[in-house]
Amino acid sequence: MAGVIKAVRAREVFDEKGLPTVEVDVLLDDGNIGRAAAPGGTSRGASEAFDLRDGDKSYFNGLGVGKAIRSVSTEIAGGLKGKNALDQEGIDRLLIELDGTENKSRLGSNAIVATSLANAKAAAKSRGIELFEHLGDGKKMPISMTHVMYGGPAYVDMAGTCDFQEYALHALSAENCKEGFLATLRIYKKLHEIVVKNRGFGMPRLAHLAGKITATFDSNEDALSTLTELIEDEGYVPRRDFGIYLDIASSQLYRDGMYHLQRDGTVFSRGEMIDWLSEMCDKYPIISMEDCLYEDDWEGWKILTKRLGNRIQLVGDDLFVTNPRRLEKGIETGVANATVIKPNQVGTLTETIETIRIARTAGYGTIISGRSGQLWDPFLVHLCVGQILGQGKLIKCPIGGPNLNELTRIEDCLGDSVEYADRSILPTS
Ligand code: PGA
Ligand code: ZN
Repeated sequence: MAGVIKAVRAREVFDEKGLPTVEVDVLLDDGNIGRAAAPGGTSRGASEAFDLRDGDKSYFNGLGVGKAIRSVSTEIAGGLKGKNALDQEGIDRLLIELDGTENKSRLGSNAIVATSLANAKAAAKSRGIELFEHLGDGKKMPISMTHVMYGGPAYVDMAGTCDFQEYALHALSAENCKEGFLATLRIYKKLHEIVVKNRGFGMPRLAHLAGKITATFDSNEDALSTLTELIEDEGYVPRRDFGIYLDIASSQLYRDGMYHLQRDGTVFSRGEMIDWLSEMCDKYPIISMEDCLYEDDWEGWKILTKRLGNRIQLVGDDLFVTNPRRLEKGIETGVANATVIKPNQVGTLTETIETIRIARTAGYGTIISGRSGQLWDPFLVHLCVGQILGQGKLIKCPIGGPNLNELTRIEDCLGDSVEYADRSILPTS
């Protein structure tokens, strides 16, 4: 029978941040191989599945993955041998059972997610179809979104940098992601001039941000007004052609029940933070905000969603951690209206797809996202297209990178049958 797992192997590789991670090969008896690695996060949500690291401080400050590799080469390889790779749900269920813990801490969610994704790739090859066709029934390209700038305490090691972690632009009137990327690049180049010439240049804390702009502005508001001006200067209409996507990553700003905005020298209570974010949304073409409040402040999120949920896409990342149960809690309690989708936060492809299904049923937006330590692997692009997620944090200035190229290839592959996600999923009015 085709698609039977013959062997599972693991090795150490390095991610985009230059940190070790576990890569897994799933080998099938029909000769096909699927390969995937676990990405690494920097501003991880506290409720994410457990990323198993060795803890030996003499090697990458404890981040070695020898234990995760052993999980794969012993228990996982033994358990999966002879199983049918085409039964992804069965494989993922087995991985969860083999681990036996609530948060995948025994075998490691890194070992498990790498195996789960590698298995899906092997299965797609065995079926002789494109990965996006294997991962879902749909075929829709996402709305263009491109990162232009970074800040925040987890990412940037410089006093005076703005407090939000990611600044991206939805290119709303662009036909496709490539056109959107090229339009965003025009704005990015002007932004680069301003930051380099007028404001000094921040040193990124992480290697994967090398060459990228850090948000060194006079205030958090100055960064937003500058972005808005640049959109207009390039001849675009804010909200019609471009909208701003912010990842506030506010759990990084939260200490002792307060939000600390070091760039502005302000300390906000929950209520003040909500007031201030609302004011920013009134003044600037902000369309989406991620992790606006602390990840366990469900009460605050409820208030925020009542206030802004009908006009802004409010996205939970550390809040939901791609976890079906946390997302269900959010839906039941009226918290946020969209979720980030990161397979490694929950640990298996099947659970990721369950979270996507729950979000879709509730009318929540879905934004696929890589981690800061990705692996030049466009798997997420295929998941985005196949599952019709419509949005993704996949492309960065100044280099579009492997995800942009893969989207272009998929468009080519689809030819005349190519379809695009409906822009009305975004609050653009
Ligand atoms: P990460 O987070 O650095 O943990 O990958 C990115 C994000 O917050 O979206
Ligand atoms: Zn985030």
